[in-house]
Amino acid sequence: MKASQGEAPGKCILFGEHAVVYGYPALAAAIEMGSFCQIAPNSQEGISWNFSNFATSLKWSITDDIPDSSFAHFLYCLQKLAQDFSIEINNLEITISSHLWSNSGLGSSASSASAFIKAINNYYSLELTLDQLNEYTLYMEGFIHGTPSGLDNSTVNYGGVIHFQKGIVRNLDKFSPIPILIVDSGIAHDTKEAIIRVKDLFTEDPNKITNIFENISSICEQGILAIKSDNLEILGALMNKNHKLLQELNLSTPKIEEIRWIGDQTGIFGSKITGAGLGGAIIAVGSPQSLDLFQDKLNHQKIPSILTWIKPN
Ligand code: MEV
Repeated sequence: MKASQGEAPGKCILFGEHAVVYGYPALAAAIEMGSFCQIAPNSQEGISWNFSNFATSLKWSITDDIPDSSFAHFLYCLQKLAQDFSIEINNLEITISSHLWSNSGLGSSASSASAFIKAINNYYSLELTLDQLNEYTLYMEGFIHGTPSGLDNSTVNYGGVIHFQKGIVRNLDKFSPIPILIVDSGIAHDTKEAIIRVKDLFTEDPNKITNIFENISSICEQGILAIKSDNLEILGALMNKNHKLLQELNLSTPKIEEIRWIGDQTGIFGSKITGAGLGGAIIAVGSPQSLDLFQDKLNHQKIPSILTWIKPN
């Protein structure tokens, strides 16, 4: 067997996080940063796993009982692939790494899952279709996030900008690349916990939360028009509106508001939480000059950020 690789991008959510879990639409984009998986044959029995970002090495084989570990979903998926494709999986060294900030809303779990499945697909020549790759990625996401909407795995697998609703993916095409600044609030978040908190709010006052979701849904549809007409000013204003609604869901933090305030001083068009909130990343749109200025100000405060472009697939 020959050594094989897989790689997958991360993602940011332009509009619709949380509402998407309740069946409303969302708009999300693949980003240039991503994750990698390398698989090499190994003369030793079993499988050696290296999770580089976590400086963790493990030794599990395909027949092991599922261990109690935050990496167990990789073994679950391998066991499922071995069963589904009737293949013997042994004597491997698997290394998984990511350039994405972990627990930040940039899809590091979906991205590393997708890179891993692609590497296995290449190593064993499984010839998975894109839809199958996406199903296995969603299977892995279930162990991490509980009840994922399917948005993260679909974005990292189908790429570009996607409109997603209830498992239906539509790629957006024919728009000019959008400059975007992705900022790390430095606070690791827990997607599962954020989803539970929103669920509690929904149970307390379903009418109020449904109203918020409906407003987010309308913003998302207006966002498509702004992208298609290359109107970054409207796109930014819509991001601000979506962020306000996420604030009403108690998903913002003082640090996030401080970062957004710095952005507002630089003439950007808008910014918002991206992903589950309660920390994690913020995205901003504006002219390339205003985003440069925003990044300069963040550099002075040692707040990490990445200037990148969102493009059609
Ligand atoms: C997480 O990146 C986005 C959420 O909407 C959860 C989901 O869609 O599964 C918070």
